[in-house]
Amino acid sequence: MRPATAADRAFIEQVYVITADWNPENVKGEAFWRADSSFEQYVGGFPRARDYGLVAERNGDPVGAVWSRYFTTADPGYGFVSDDIPEIGIGVVAGLRGEGIGRALLKAIIAASRTDLSLSVEDGNPAIDLYRREGFIEVGRVGEATTMLRRRGGGRSTAGYVAPAP
Ligand SMILES: CC(C)(COP(=O)(O)OP(=O)(O)OC[C@H]1O[C@@H](n2cnc3c(N)ncnc32)[C@H](O)[C@@H]1OP(=O)(O)O)[C@@H](O)C(=O)NCCC(=O)NCCS
Repeated sequence: MRPATAADRAFIEQVYVITADWNPENVKGEAFWRADSSFEQYVGGFPRARDYGLVAERNGDPVGAVWSRYFTTADPGYGFVSDDIPEIGIGVVAGLRGEGIGRALLKAIIAASRTDLSLSVEDGNPAIDLYRREGFIEVGRVGEATTMLRRRGGGRSTAGYVAPAP
């Protein structure tokens, strides 16, 4: 595992598509997501100032990534909690899931982060169990997705944080 750089932009973009198309019964495809405004919002110009990412490699090839990006109240991500809390995205290439790569990436970004972290997980995505086990707590709903927050240090208090109304 190593920090992501601008040279990883294409792979981070690929992982964004993996996250957006997480549901095998509702795959929209790369072209759809590249044209969707969320693509620019989540991965455009990676790494922008204050973006952070980690890439997992196997035999020299990238196989998974996690990244964080700050959003604003004016232009929030799906898992937005506050301007001070970056939202993460995570994905592992098909065929290598369920081997511990995603958990290792999640643990690593938690360890590297000096802030709380948030994320959005759509209903039905089994990844929610992974997030719960790694200390994320449910703090809100947006559409058909749950917003989760991981306090730095792993505390379970949500004091001070109010998720935006769905
Ligand atoms: C979610 C994801 C990043 C997890 O990475 P992973 O390497 O498959 O997960 P790990 O092997 O480290 O850990 C598996 C844990 O994650 C959960 N999990 C979530 N999705 C899973 C999947 N497709 N296959 C296996 N486990 C999955 C399970 O709770 C599992 O816990 P367990 O090991 O105690 O059974 C990966 O499965 C993935 O890329 N999925 C598609 C994209 C996606 O859903 N991204 C998250 C959007 S919010």
